[in-house]
This record gives sequence, structure tokens and C-alpha cells, in this order.
Amino acid sequence: MAAKIEIITTSDAGRLAEKGAELMYNTAGEAVARKDSFAVAVSGGSTPRAMHRLLSQEPYLADMPWQKTHFFWVDERMVSFDHPDSNYGAAKKDLMSIVPIPADQVYPMPAMMRPEQGADLYQAKLKTFFQDLGSLDPVFDLIILGIGTDGHTASLFPGQPSSQEPDRWVLSVRGGQPDVFRLTLTYAVLNSARHILFLVSGNAKAAVVKTLIEDRHSQLPAAKIQAPNGKITWLLDQKAASLLAEETVADNL
Ligand code: 6PG
Repeated sequence: MAAKIEIITTSDAGRLAEKGAELMYNTAGEAVARKDSFAVAVSGGSTPRAMHRLLSQEPYLADMPWQKTHFFWVDERMVSFDHPDSNYGAAKKDLMSIVPIPADQVYPMPAMMRPEQGADLYQAKLKTFFQDLGSLDPVFDLIILGIGTDGHTASLFPGQPSSQEPDRWVLSVRGGQPDVFRLTLTYAVLNSARHILFLVSGNAKAAVVKTLIEDRHSQLPAAKIQAPNGKITWLLDQKAASLLAEETVADNL
């Protein structure tokens, strides 16, 4: 079964962040109404940060179901949490240190140990979390992904064989910018999600966005995100959407 795909474009990066926060709030409300909890995994990088800062302010500070929210990471650089490249460090500064989410419902990836050990530890934590929900599969209610200009997503980079390990939920890899050891969720987890939200901004991403959305034969890592049982939303500012064919966008309005 193919995922339902929608494309939402916004006038600029500021509106992108607003729409992203709104989508997270709405998805959280639907999940809590359905199963009394909301499990979300977020990517690092720069794009999500404006959205995180909005979620730390009213109305979301009061209205998001933080007490029922479980916050995971899609990937992490193996640096200390106070390092400027730490994905958790950035999210903690922008969001986690401000909103009333219970500390034991925030699950940073373990970045200060041997990468393979960190991957095994986080994978065990994920399995326990979803088994406690009565699920053998890692079905996140929402996963927020970015893309690189090379078509990577999470820390799944082009030409990286390790991202093909079907039974792994978390892998340790080396690469990206910065070129460091990283932990990343695998396709097995990303493709189990109920809802994937690609958050993409800027002219630099326009070419890869066009390839990923319009080239059905693309073998780029982000093209392998199919979410067969879920929904994929491409949330793009006008610059990132600028090379899409008019009919591509129109079909999704
Ligand atoms: C990471 C991210 C990565 C990011 C893209 C886009 O840890 O590097 O998870 O996959 O989402 O590289 O990054 P920007 O939002 O900074 O363009």
C-alpha cells in the first residue's frame, strides 16, 4: 500500500515553522484522542529549530499534551549534549528545557559511549517503549525529517550500505556535515511511522526536493522513505518548492 502524499507550501521559512508547529499540535491531539499518548521523533539540523521555539511558546506551551508526549530523536551526532553540533542540545535549549514534558518522557540518543553500544542501547529503549504500548513494531505517530542537498535524511547517507540492515532499528554510522560518528533510526523505523513530515526550507534544497518528489525511480536515501501504512507530508517553503512542476503542487493543494 502506498502512503498518502501531500505537499504543503508556505511563503517563507517563518510560515514553515508556524505550519510545522500546527501540524505537530494537530497530530498530537489526534494521537492522544486515539491512544492517550503521542510518540514523536525529531531530526536535528537547523530547519526544525524555529518550529521548536514556537512550540515552546503560547499557545503550544499550554495547549500541547506535553504530559502525554514521548519525545525521541531521529539521529544524533556523537558529541556531548553541550556541544554546538548536538541535536539534543539544540532541542533542549529551544524546547525541552521550557515545556512541561516529564523528564522520563524525553529520550535523547546516548552520545557519549562507543557508537555501536549507543545504537544497541537506544534500540533496546525503543523496543521496550513500543512493547509497553503493546506493539512489536516501532509505530511513531509522527516523525519529522529534514533532507540534505545530497538526498540524505536522518543520518542515512547515499552509498552507505549499513542503512540496509533490515532488522536494526538504530545504527551507528559515520558521515554527514559535521563528519562525525552518529546514531540514526533506520528505514525499518522511519517506514513504520503513521505520519512522516519532511520539513524543508531554502533554494539550496529545491533541486533535491524536485528529484525526490517527481522522480519515482530516485534511489536517494530520502526517496526510500515510503511509510506504506502512513502519510507523508512535504512541508516546503516557496524557495524549496520553486523547481516543482506546477501540476505537482496543484495536485496536492
Ligand atoms: C542531522 C539531521 C539531518 C538534517 C538534514 C537537514 O543530524 O544532520 O538529522 O538529517 O535533517 O541534514 O539539515 P538542515 O535542516 O540543517 O538543512
